[in-house]
Amino acid sequence: MQPLRGTKDILPKEIQEWQRIYNVANNLLSIYNYKEIRTPIIENTELFTRSIGNFTDIVNKEMYSFNDQGNRNLTLRPEGTASIARSFITNKLYIDKPINRLWYLGPMFRYERPQRGRQRQFHQLGIECIGSNMPIADIEVIKLANDILKEIECKEKYVLEINSIGNLEEREIYKLKLVDYLRKYENELDTDSKNRMNNNALRVLDSKHLKTKEILQEAPKLKTCLNRNSIEHFETICEHLTYLNIKYVINDYLVRGLDYYNYTAFEIKTKKFNQQNAICGGGRYDNLIQQLGGPKTPAVGWAIGLERLIILIQDNLNHKIKKQKIYITVQNFNKFNIIWDIIEILHEYKLEFELDLSHQSLTKQIKRANQLKSQICLIVGEDEINNNLITIKWLQTGTQQTIRLSSLRKYIQYLKKI
Ligand code: HAM
Repeated sequence: MQPLRGTKDILPKEIQEWQRIYNVANNLLSIYNYKEIRTPIIENTELFTRSIGNFTDIVNKEMYSFNDQGNRNLTLRPEGTASIARSFITNKLYIDKPINRLWYLGPMFRYERPQRGRQRQFHQLGIECIGSNMPIADIEVIKLANDILKEIECKEKYVLEINSIGNLEEREIYKLKLVDYLRKYENELDTDSKNRMNNNALRVLDSKHLKTKEILQEAPKLKTCLNRNSIEHFETICEHLTYLNIKYVINDYLVRGLDYYNYTAFEIKTKKFNQQNAICGGGRYDNLIQQLGGPKTPAVGWAIGLERLIILIQDNLNHKIKKQKIYITVQNFNKFNIIWDIIEILHEYKLEFELDLSHQSLTKQIKRANQLKSQICLIVGEDEINNNLITIKWLQTGTQQTIRLSSLRKYIQYLKKI
């Protein structure tokens, strides 16, 4: 039996890294007053069609949607923002606080062609700062993406690309200009871009097709349609990023694959892969909450794709795998008291151990302890059982000594320092 295409088991040897990322995020985001939120994985399909947009790739061809037994049309969430906006409205989170800073980590689902860094079930770590239209909120959010990548020790080079896509009116004016320009080259555009020209013209800017990219070079720029407010918002962000020493590149062609954004759009990209190079994507979405039936509430956020991040930091991982410190080998489980007494003491001092369950010879059990690269092997043979003793063998040096069970606590004081 194989797992479904585009899905992966996260095995115990990898889970440590997932837990580390969770802990780094939790510690860092708590300092900035972000609170964790967990929303359901399934939602009404309408939530995503209304928020992500009918003409986006996600809604058009990537959603895992199905009818349940009650004939409701449901979807496995393809991203977190729509669910957070829904939860913000359902739970009236705006009543208690003017600003809600939320973060989440969990699986998302998109029916895409699987490849390295692209899965059908993948995980996002995301944050949403809800309630402020000030550029300072955008900057806080971008700073946090940068801080998290630093703290996770992502040493691979990455770059922050940023753009302003203005507001709806500005984009409508721009779209007319863009489509007008593209019409002249309609026959030379790739098929996707031709289709997009009619229903989601802005996304043509995101084309990876060489000829289309060449045509776009002379196309009118979105920034020429931005008004004073949009420009000032964007310039403030750039100024603060410079002050914070966060390097960025302005990418005039950066438009995001989800319809809810306005003003700020950004992505953090790595050079390590040619495709699937966005490790983080985000931006401002001031109309989404109102569009879904909530009060008018501006917001900004991002999500990091954890599988992509983990590929990037993989090289650092191997040496960090935790070693089993203590291995307990036992000759005879029939006289078990001493075993449980030892285990209770190790538990009390929060020392990690593994009890051998094989019932093989002591020699084989000690060999296993060596294979696991344990530091210490506690040997409880017949002699030890009969006399309430424990033999402690240091596996790296081979030295060993036998102590009384009653001295184990004292011995542990010493162990705790290794
Ligand atoms: P997104 O750009 O669609 O934005 O996804 C964010 C990140 O999720 C991507 O940069 C990528 O690292 C990861 N990702 C997306 N699809 C896949 C996939 N099939 N396999 C592996 N990783 C993937 C959003 O989802 C927005 N909700 C982000 C946001 C939050 N904007 C505002 N707040």
